[in-house]
Amino acid sequence: MEIIILPDATTGGAYAARMIEKLVRNKPKAVLGLATGSTPIPVYQNLIQKHQEENLDFSQVTTFNLDEYLGLDPSHPASYHSFMREHLFSKLNIPQSQIHIPDGLAPDIEAHCAAYEAAIVKAGGIDLQLLGIGGEGHIGFNEPSSSLTSRTRVKTLIPRTREDNKRFFKPEEAVPHHVLTMGIGTIMEARTILLLAFGDGKAEAIARSLEGPLTARIPASILQMHPKTIVLLDEGSASKLEMKDYYRYVYEHKETTHSIHREENELLS
Ligand code: F6R
Repeated sequence: MEIIILPDATTGGAYAARMIEKLVRNKPKAVLGLATGSTPIPVYQNLIQKHQEENLDFSQVTTFNLDEYLGLDPSHPASYHSFMREHLFSKLNIPQSQIHIPDGLAPDIEAHCAAYEAAIVKAGGIDLQLLGIGGEGHIGFNEPSSSLTSRTRVKTLIPRTREDNKRFFKPEEAVPHHVLTMGIGTIMEARTILLLAFGDGKAEAIARSLEGPLTARIPASILQMHPKTIVLLDEGSASKLEMKDYYRYVYEHKETTHSIHREENELLS
């Protein structure tokens, strides 16, 4: 894992977008794994800007979202279909046929999940998977106790996640109990994983994921087993890391040898 501590979420968003830009310019048919929630919003804002002002072309890109609420209509304002439309897809040129989001209303959920997995394989696998992290260490909606080799399926949200996500629903609406999510095994097959976490509220989950034992109690801890995971943090989310000075040291000493770091540093200076 490569752990990079940046000043804030704005810088983190710019950094992540620059990585995605690099991928898409080098490989126009890139397959992106996307996330919802507050964390990727600055990334999406940067990508929109690059598309509108710097000719970053997404016309051949294929996307797969991590998750969706079970039973929620795609037109519901709190659905992840709506989220993605509002924050990204309505402002980029990705053809609708190349956008994939689990369908919470699929009549045969099991068949839908199997088809979702098959579509990822048919697209050539995910080149870069963007991830946020839940307060209890979930990735996608793989809550604590999820099988570390799981595939796309239905999961039950833990109360903390339902509480955290209340903000996307109207006060009188109940947050669904169930979701469809890519499995941990599915996520682990992405060639590169980019995990983003910003703010003190993520500090405990980040410390346990990056420095704790590998355990289904903290699903994100499986990322320790991934050959290419990059973790972008801010001071808040990094605050409980025992080895944070070491991670800064590693990053500083890689700047001159790895072009991505040199370029990112120029970007950030
Ligand atoms: C969203 C997802 C979740 C979120 C996580 C963090 O598609 O899969 O794992 O990334 O719950 O959410 P935020 O970014 O809102 O703190």
